[in-house]
Amino acid sequence: MQKLIIKGKKELTGKISISGSKNSTLPILAASILADQVRLKNIPLVKDIFTMVELLNYIGLKTKIIKKKNIIEIKNKKKNISTLAPYKLVKTMRAGVLVLGSLLTKYGKAKVSLPGGCAIGSRPVDLHLYALKKLGAKIKIKDGYILAEAKNGLKGTIINFPSISVGATENALLAASRARGKTILKNCAVEPEIKDLIIFLKKLGSSIYMKGRTITILQNKINNTKITHEVIFDRIELGTYMIASALLAKNKIEIDKINPKINKRKKDVLRKIGIQKKKKKSSIIIKRNKKLKKITISTEPYPGFPTDLQAQLMVLLTQAYGVSKIREDIFENRFMHVPELKRMGAQIEIKNKTAFINGPTKLTGAEVMATDLRASVSLVLAGLIAENRTIINRIYHLDRGYEFLERKLKNCKAEIKRI
Ligand code: EPZ
Repeated sequence: MQKLIIKGKKELTGKISISGSKNSTLPILAASILADQVRLKNIPLVKDIFTMVELLNYIGLKTKIIKKKNIIEIKNKKKNISTLAPYKLVKTMRAGVLVLGSLLTKYGKAKVSLPGGCAIGSRPVDLHLYALKKLGAKIKIKDGYILAEAKNGLKGTIINFPSISVGATENALLAASRARGKTILKNCAVEPEIKDLIIFLKKLGSSIYMKGRTITILQNKINNTKITHEVIFDRIELGTYMIASALLAKNKIEIDKINPKINKRKKDVLRKIGIQKKKKKSSIIIKRNKKLKKITISTEPYPGFPTDLQAQLMVLLTQAYGVSKIREDIFENRFMHVPELKRMGAQIEIKNKTAFINGPTKLTGAEVMATDLRASVSLVLAGLIAENRTIINRIYHLDRGYEFLERKLKNCKAEIKRI
């Protein structure tokens, strides 16, 4: 099994280009079932995208990935396609459950594997099913599969989500885009990836309005749909490299291929810690700061601080002065990176849902184990700032969501290699 070897303490210089967003491409690929023809640009060439494409192929869509250009072309001309999403594909990539909304609203039925457990939490799909039932679907769980039916199509209604879920909002949007009449979704997730999906669905002919956390979908007659769409940049990848730059930039690092306007935050956490950044039209310049300040933060739905940057932020805070606190409020088991960081010398205590990080602490290289996508990249960041060598095992987690990570870091003079 492949490993990463990192020789730490190398100052970084140069430029890093951000790839397309994994968490925007996945729901848009599920939405492509609703179109006749799609050309999707700026897609990240990561494992989860390839798994979703495999699922679309399995369902019967024609797909072609033009790797050199990060483009995928999709055709769905067939009258009848398979409305089954098998366990073997959904188990490795939970976002596979997003084809449920598209299949149900277009073909009136779907059989989709329940995603099953995940390292970071139980991650049920009850809110997805709640929304589809409200739209009139008959839903049964049988042999580990969701059996959904809407013989006479779905019917628009008001859905008030009891808690905020990115995936449930996306599945409800996909299903409602072809439901009869008007649908109002309340207490929705409003991540930039949701907005990107809405732009795509509008190109498909739907009328969709967002106001605060309320999304209104008006059904329109969907004609022959041949659309081109450019996926937004990956704001979590951006956050990851901003943290790497703040820790290791020789002087400054420029991170480009982004749209700074898209990523407004309630609180500018990185600036509060003391990260100096300068925004430009489509890039951002990060300067190193040797005197990082401690902070107390909780992970929240957008525009709060994202749970997908929690592990990376924790590594940064091992170098901040004082005791920082991070409360993980989205997933119940997302501190798997802590024991590994402690093996590298980090001083971190967990009480209930909060991590107490004491800094600044000198980290030293060690052999560590990746457990999930974001935990694995936090170990890469720790390896980059640690004395000596770090060996990271199970890096298949990393390949699920980071495109060309070694190449991007090597271009900035990091000493990192895959064996
Ligand atoms: C999306 O997952 C992202 N994945 C996750 O990124 C991200 O961490 C998460 O949103 C939160 O921002 C993709 O977009 C593909 P949720 P999702 O539904 O949709 C509970 C990464 O690292 N919940 O917003 O699965 C759930 O258990 C990944 O790229 C229910 O209880 O997240 C969690 O505690 C990891 N019932 C909370 O809500 C439901 O039906 C938020 O989950 C659905 C969710």
